[in-house]
Amino acid sequence: DKRTIAVFVGSLRKDSYNRQLARALERLAEDRLRFDYVDIGRLPFYNQDLDGDYPPGGVALKRQVRGADAVLFVTPEYNRSVPGVLKNAIDLASRPYGDSAFAGLPAAVIGASPGAIGTALAQQHLRNILSYLDMAVMPQPEAYIQFEDGLVDADGRVTRQDTREFLEDFVDRFVNWISLQRG
Ligand code: FNR
Repeated sequence: DKRTIAVFVGSLRKDSYNRQLARALERLAEDRLRFDYVDIGRLPFYNQDLDGDYPPGGVALKRQVRGADAVLFVTPEYNRSVPGVLKNAIDLASRPYGDSAFAGLPAAVIGASPGAIGTALAQQHLRNILSYLDMAVMPQPEAYIQFEDGLVDADGRVTRQDTREFLEDFVDRFVNWISLQRG
């Protein structure tokens, strides 16, 4: 009876730090959570003209989100905000008006960057968006992961002990947060 988590990784890059971070979290949580990755790179662009005849990619995305107990966003920061490709996925899952797939779901936000304060501003923008969409966003811990090559090995293990312990705590708190919200 693992909880299912719809996971949005905000980068399409093959060797994405954020995808590596998501895999590390998946591994730390594997006894409690099932990660269901959303393929945001294959979605159509949101277009309000299509609200009455929603594109199949949007319908499938919303079905995937509605099949989850919670949502995890693992995102880079692009120009001090959320990458456009992630924002498009959020817009698509949130519409037509009144039929958002996100409403009421618990969520958590985390991100990785090579820079020291990287992703803090993107995550603040993202929290604003998710609150507007009536998601229950885990307030703490905030998690701004400064990433360097090798931080996560090929098997998804975190190689630094302090970072591993921090991420273990993040996972524990997320599991508790989901229980609190979903019962
Ligand atoms: C970046 N990067 C970046 N980093 C950051 O900390 N703050 C920022 O505002 C930006 N802006 C930005 C814009 C664009 C268009 C790109 C391509 C990159 C650098 C970014 O953190 C770095 O490329 C990461 O490796 C991206 O995450 P993934 O793809 O490795 O998950």
